[in-house]
Amino acid sequence: MDDKILSIYLDDRLPTPLYIQLFVQLKSLIAEGVLKPNEKLPPIRKLAQRLGINTITVVHAYKKLESEGLAYSVVGSGTYVASPSRYEPQLQRQEEDEHLQMMEKGQVQVSKDAINFASTTPTPDLFPVDSFKILINKVLDRDKGQAFGYHQIQGYQPLRESICHYLEKFSIKVLTDDVHVISGAQQGIDIISKALIEYGDCVFVESPTYRGALEAFKSRGARIVEIPIQEDGIDLEKLEEMLSVYHPKFIYVMPYFQNPTGYSYSYSKKEQILQMARQHKTFIVEDDSLSELSFTKEQPLPLKAFDAYQVVIYIKSFSKIFMPGLRLGFMVVPQALRSRVISAKHTTDISTSGLIQRTFDLYLRENIWQEHIEYMRQKYKKRYETFLKAVKESFPVSVKYKAPGGGLHVWFELPPGYNDQEVYARCLKKGVLIAPGSLFYHQTHDTRHFRLSFAAVNSEKIRDGIRAMGEVLHQYVEQEATLAPSSQEYSPLL
Ligand SMILES: Cc1ncc(COP(=O)(O)O)c(C=O)c1O
Repeated sequence: MDDKILSIYLDDRLPTPLYIQLFVQLKSLIAEGVLKPNEKLPPIRKLAQRLGINTITVVHAYKKLESEGLAYSVVGSGTYVASPSRYEPQLQRQEEDEHLQMMEKGQVQVSKDAINFASTTPTPDLFPVDSFKILINKVLDRDKGQAFGYHQIQGYQPLRESICHYLEKFSIKVLTDDVHVISGAQQGIDIISKALIEYGDCVFVESPTYRGALEAFKSRGARIVEIPIQEDGIDLEKLEEMLSVYHPKFIYVMPYFQNPTGYSYSYSKKEQILQMARQHKTFIVEDDSLSELSFTKEQPLPLKAFDAYQVVIYIKSFSKIFMPGLRLGFMVVPQALRSRVISAKHTTDISTSGLIQRTFDLYLRENIWQEHIEYMRQKYKKRYETFLKAVKESFPVSVKYKAPGGGLHVWFELPPGYNDQEVYARCLKKGVLIAPGSLFYHQTHDTRHFRLSFAAVNSEKIRDGIRAMGEVLHQYVEQEATLAPSSQEYSPLL
């Protein structure tokens, strides 16, 4: 047992309470099968001594494991890892858990009739299949077999030129050699992790953040430090405090319509985070999948547009505004990192599909792209307005949110004491799928939020789904106010 807990690392300078840090890491060890069913957990005093923490902290963590059905205690003996059979779940409960576990891995399993507010993926009716057919045929007629060979690791040169030209519209001036074509933003995040992170390195993320990024950083053995996000961007005070303690390899941010909160950075915060990155000699990884989808007059400029010091690695996804299955995106990478990034891309998939790169190049060159973006923006704007109107009419006022003005999702806050997983389970019974907020954290314990996206639902279904959710929420937060779900929260025994 002793070596099994060697990997546990707690840090009292982090905003997450120590007992939650310990709970999360024990939970991971159980999920990974390192700690086996019915195996005894280390005695409280011994573990506390070993980690240099108070015994109460260990008690809190063990109690939390018990309350989640992951451990059980035997009087006079100790605490043990639960075996699945010991807490035989109800069939319904099991189904909910499976859904949640799949969501943690970035997938949602949806029945045909379900109204899916959990997914931020556009519906296929929005995909520009007709123009794609015309352009792909043009490429085949023009390039023949050339389109099917291996392509340059960094990407098809004419496409990289078109991307440079496209970026000028956003005040980003770069050379073709700074542009790297990737097979989707997720691959970009993974390649950057591969190129920069060594086991035990520290990475800063906004909290909450995009789950796919957390998983990529964890897979490289990164120590993840969560910095809270506020309505106008990352908490700079906390960031400064943490930068004075750690030296992160990079700070991973989404300055526009952040996933999951929908928040965007103010100009002042953009300026300050760039200054801080420069001062502390670290990079910023800017993940931009939604900046085109502003529904107000203000058209946001990416952080990269202000990057005078070459500290920003810009990752652009086309999945939400084009077709996610094409697996296409690009990065703009500071020169100092170019060769490392090329090596990482090479060992990942050699190069992104040449046929797709050539076809997308024609979208940019023949000015079809701008038309397409405008079409998507109008479609999504309509869904956004329908969504907000329905929410205003149906949700209890005690469920709070901030209209993001763009993007594809809205972040909701439940009143104190109410729980995202409970809302998730109740909605699932009504055929409505939502994303519980707790999925978007690394160690922070927050169960009061959920994210709803209108990307994958048409207007009629948005109205039906939000109405059904409104009934669920009214019943939960109003009629059950006296049940005080907060009483389920852990209170220490000692
Ligand atoms: C913030 C963020 N980054 C990256 C991705 C992955 O995008 P892609 O499909 O381009 O790999 C997603 C997908 O939802 C996302 O929300």
